[in-house]
Amino acid sequence: MVNQLFYGDNLDVLRKHIKDESVDLCYIDPPFNSKRNYNQIYNNIGKEDRAQAQAFIDTWTWDDFGNRGLAEILENYQGRFTSQSIDLIAGLTKVLGKGSLLAYLVTMTLRVAEIYRVLKPTGSFYLHCDPTASHYLKLIIDGIFCAQGGDFKNELIWKRTTAHNDSKRYGNNIDIIFFYTKTLNYIWNQQYKPHDEAYHQRFRNKDDDGRAWTDDNLTAKGLSGGGYEYEYKGVKSLWRVPIETMIKLDDEGKLHFTKKGGIRLKRYLEDIKGVALQCLWEDIPPINSQARERLGYPTQKPEVLLERIIKASSNEGDIVLDAYCGCGTTVAVSQRLKREWIGIDITYQSISLILKRLEDSFGKGVLDEIKLNGIPKDMESAIALANKKDDRTRKEFEKWAVLTYSNNRAIVNQKKGADQGIDGIAYFQSEKDEPEKIILQVKSGKAKSGDIRDLQGTMTLEQAQLGIFITLEEPTKDMIKTAKTAGIYQNKFMSQSCDRIQIVTIQEILESNKRLDIRLSLEVLKSAEKQMEVKAIQMELDI
Ligand SMILES: C[S@@+](CC[C@H](N)C(=O)[O-])C[C@H]1O[C@@H](n2cnc3c(N)ncnc32)[C@H](O)[C@@H]1O
Repeated sequence: MVNQLFYGDNLDVLRKHIKDESVDLCYIDPPFNSKRNYNQIYNNIGKEDRAQAQAFIDTWTWDDFGNRGLAEILENYQGRFTSQSIDLIAGLTKVLGKGSLLAYLVTMTLRVAEIYRVLKPTGSFYLHCDPTASHYLKLIIDGIFCAQGGDFKNELIWKRTTAHNDSKRYGNNIDIIFFYTKTLNYIWNQQYKPHDEAYHQRFRNKDDDGRAWTDDNLTAKGLSGGGYEYEYKGVKSLWRVPIETMIKLDDEGKLHFTKKGGIRLKRYLEDIKGVALQCLWEDIPPINSQARERLGYPTQKPEVLLERIIKASSNEGDIVLDAYCGCGTTVAVSQRLKREWIGIDITYQSISLILKRLEDSFGKGVLDEIKLNGIPKDMESAIALANKKDDRTRKEFEKWAVLTYSNNRAIVNQKKGADQGIDGIAYFQSEKDEPEKIILQVKSGKAKSGDIRDLQGTMTLEQAQLGIFITLEEPTKDMIKTAKTAGIYQNKFMSQSCDRIQIVTIQEILESNKRLDIRLSLEVLKSAEKQMEVKAIQMELDI
């Protein structure tokens, strides 16, 4: 299988593209219903933009999706649901009513049912959530997994932040990760964490080769269950091991003959694997401001967290699925650990960020080995994306156009509602201390010369030197004429002058590979560190 990245709603992708029993491990980290904003990647450019940067707000409302999803479950659409799931959702509908929480639980039921279907019998499922809805989610997963022979293994508690004051309650600093398996026969590689310093101090003795060891009892005296009575090298006792093992240990240099005439076992520090991992994970810090892996994606999870899960529940060559892959932590760790992977995300920023992350971490060649799905490749699919106007995929066409044309370097304007004509902003090197702005505007409907005049107005307001008007339809002669009246621009870093307002068609982007060809001064996706200072504060406030 080749690694696959899907741009789209995971329910459609799972149903249409992922075969039954084809995945070894699935980890998901869906939006939590915790009223916390996330997915604010590009809001580093100033106060006004920060306020606008809310692509996808982590709250749920009851709408057509809720009604449709509820009907699918209650009618057992295509036999996809267990009777336990149906009864559970029917009961929760009565108890909770048709509101935000039910919308979330219906959404998750639809998707977890598909995840169960695509897992191999030896497969495992991890669902990352927080305490806001974890107790409801556990019921949902039980109704799908345990009802069909699967097993609940653990509720992992990850301490995701350091201690902080929460208003009039205990500091809320944990996430929860549920671990389920599809059957009782599943892939499992025990993981360990190092012992603490106090434990290490017990290994006070050193061999000539420097190996540290401590000694342990070899006699079985006082132990219930017997032992082996014999004399070894003049020492008679009731031993824990038979004589054959004693000889073997001696040959391996693992016996310590004490001054008092006893025999003890030498335990080497290097042979100790560490402490078997328990379900309380306090040793994985959140991604800090200096971390190399930090990309500026607010819900980005640490690579070590995923490394632990992937190593425990899969082997090299296995297939790992993340159906809510965000900025691609699971994908990147799977690639590093030589697993094959499938990633799905509904927003184009995530897809663009993942491609960049993979390229930065593994080199350009890695992208040739990935099958990209759902990203417009021709006019037909671009038009289809432009016409997809539901609230979840709001402005996806604009985001895709801005990021594709700018080679993922522009900043997407996330603001809901009227957007003052700005879909993206890029910065380029100028002769002044400050970089200059380029405003990108995308039009999927009928465009006219008035739109070009509006763009010019916005450029004046925003003090932008250049404007790019991306249009799905061919521009009219009037539009081209109006754009020309904006004049030309050049600075010493540019090899030639260019029109202040440039009109680019989607056809040119798709068929002639036309891209923004100006040296930009801000590599948005790489300058995540700077962005995060602002967002970290924002997140603390939102939690
Ligand atoms: C909490 S983030 C995941 C973060 C990820 N674990 C990481 O480390 O980057 C949730 C992601 O789910 C995506 N998402 C939300 N609803 C989705 C859906 N129906 N289908 C696919 N992706 C979805 C969002 O776009 C967001 O990127």
